[in-house]
Amino acid sequence: MENAEKRKVVFSGIQPSGNITLGNYIGALRNFTLFDDADCLYCLADLHTLTVRQNPAELRRRTASLAAIYVACGLDPDKNIIYCQSHVPAHAELAWILNCYTYMGELSRMTQFKDKSQKHADNINAGLFDYPVLMASDILLYQTDIVPVGVDQKQHVEICRDIAQRFNGIYGDVFTVPEPYIPKATAKIMSLAEPERKMSKSDPEDTYIAILDKPEDIRRKLKRAVTDSDGEIRFDPETKPGVSNLLTILSVLKKETMKETVSAMQGLGYGALKEAVSEAVIAELTPIQQRYNEIIADKDALNAMLGRNAERAYALARRTLRKVYKKVGLYQL
Ligand code: TRP
Repeated sequence: MENAEKRKVVFSGIQPSGNITLGNYIGALRNFTLFDDADCLYCLADLHTLTVRQNPAELRRRTASLAAIYVACGLDPDKNIIYCQSHVPAHAELAWILNCYTYMGELSRMTQFKDKSQKHADNINAGLFDYPVLMASDILLYQTDIVPVGVDQKQHVEICRDIAQRFNGIYGDVFTVPEPYIPKATAKIMSLAEPERKMSKSDPEDTYIAILDKPEDIRRKLKRAVTDSDGEIRFDPETKPGVSNLLTILSVLKKETMKETVSAMQGLGYGALKEAVSEAVIAELTPIQQRYNEIIADKDALNAMLGRNAERAYALARRTLRKVYKKVGLYQL
């Protein structure tokens, strides 16, 4: 009975590294408001960012900025728990325990680990390897039901489920086994320069649109976006990745089906398509940026919000952590 009534728990995280992109917005942030009837936690995954070398001042600035972006995108910080991972020590504490229930073999098969070790060959640290375990701890601490993520994070949610099931298999039902939630057609916005690759905040500035980009930057970046030479507006991600990416952005922001978008654009040139995409992006981002500017201007209020929400998160996390400590046999006072 109680179970049927229980509100779902939704957990997601974003790393405060790099600028938040239109891809993050479309693939993640924008969908967060879909979960109004659930208990939602949105974590600024600052501990995860340390797996790659960060500039400390930049990291601090970006963390506050990301918190303000969350709120500006429409997440009410009284209804949703928006907080900073490092403010809740239970994340790191549970990660240690779960490390002892995770195999080297499964971690070494993670595609993100392989990609990132290639990209940062001079700094293949243990944290990079262990990244999925910290992420599993984030999720499992809150008895999460649903994890909204981009497709690239699906494998991490899967290993989280494996770890949870393994732990539950030994100790009984300690963790809720979470499901990933991957928005269908719109999950992946691609790089403007290399449309075969995901739009990424860790790539050069001109390959992505940042949520806080000014209208003139948005227009300039889209004008330069890579297309192809056949000149026809058609949705075909295989052979026309650049044009298809622009069409995806347009259809998502205009809340149209791809068919509607393509037929509205049919026969026009790429210049017109880019213009239409620019206008749609600017129309979407302008009100967000206005709210953002107000929020970031009041640091005291922003910090108070983060403090309050870290308390709320910690109260929930502590319950799970205590249970885990007890189950594994750590001496309780
Ligand atoms: N690894 C995620 C990313 O890079 C961010 C993240 C950290 C996360 N902890 C999480 C996402 C927990 C979902 C759930 O996008």
